[in-house]
Amino acid sequence: MKDFTYIGRPARVVFGAGKLRELPAEVERLGARKALVLSTPERRAAAEQVAALLGPRAAGVFDKATMHVPIATAREACEYAARIGADCAVAVGGGSTIGLGKAIARESAVPIIAVPTTYAGSEMTSIYGITEAGLKKTGRDDRVLPRTVIYDPELTLTLPVGLSITSGINAVAHAAEGCTPRPATPSSI
Ligand SMILES: NC(=O)c1ccc[n+]([C@@H]2O[C@H](COP(=O)([O-])OP(=O)(O)OC[C@H]3O[C@@H](n4cnc5c(N)ncnc54)[C@H](O)[C@@H]3O)[C@@H](O)[C@H]2O)c1
Repeated sequence: MKDFTYIGRPARVVFGAGKLRELPAEVERLGARKALVLSTPERRAAAEQVAALLGPRAAGVFDKATMHVPIATAREACEYAARIGADCAVAVGGGSTIGLGKAIARESAVPIIAVPTTYAGSEMTSIYGITEAGLKKTGRDDRVLPRTVIYDPELTLTLPVGLSITSGINAVAHAAEGCTPRPATPSSI
């Protein structure tokens, strides 16, 4: 029998078409009252819809998420979160937006709810990335793991076909990587 070490990373997963509607209840479940909604600039309108769904529990929208989490953007988001008194961040988008949420969680211990809209898979890892002076550093920190993940397949319907394909292939690559000898455990295989 093969020896292995497995560290479980508990996250609450809510899955189903239309499950975005459960976001207000999930924010409440965390005991949060002021949620900061994160998005990319392109997805601002979707983020505003999410803020409207949250009603009085939405404290603001920050729409500057971009690929590989530039440190200046992370700092600006953290400052904005502190200024509006956010006690929760809702990252609605792909790996870039969830990465920004992770940066906030690492800095301020604010819990994150991830609402993935691509297949990047960042919501299920404790890996964070941050880019400074053109260099991306990555690390692991359990504080960045989203507390709740809402998978609503309807949110992927607006993905352009090209992005659906590349993101889907990326997801398959992550699954294959999980089976490679070094990190593999019987549960990942
Ligand atoms: N930390 C981790 O474990 C981990 C894992 C995977 C990826 N990543 C990181 O995630 C980033 C890439 O994430 P990505 O591939 O999801 O891309 P992305 O988040 O940058 O999104 C790509 C584009 O798609 C748009 N988009 C997202 N969802 C959409 C939707 N439903 N409809 C229409 N447009 C939509 C975004 O606005 C953006 O313009 C990289 O920085 C990568 O390093 C991190």
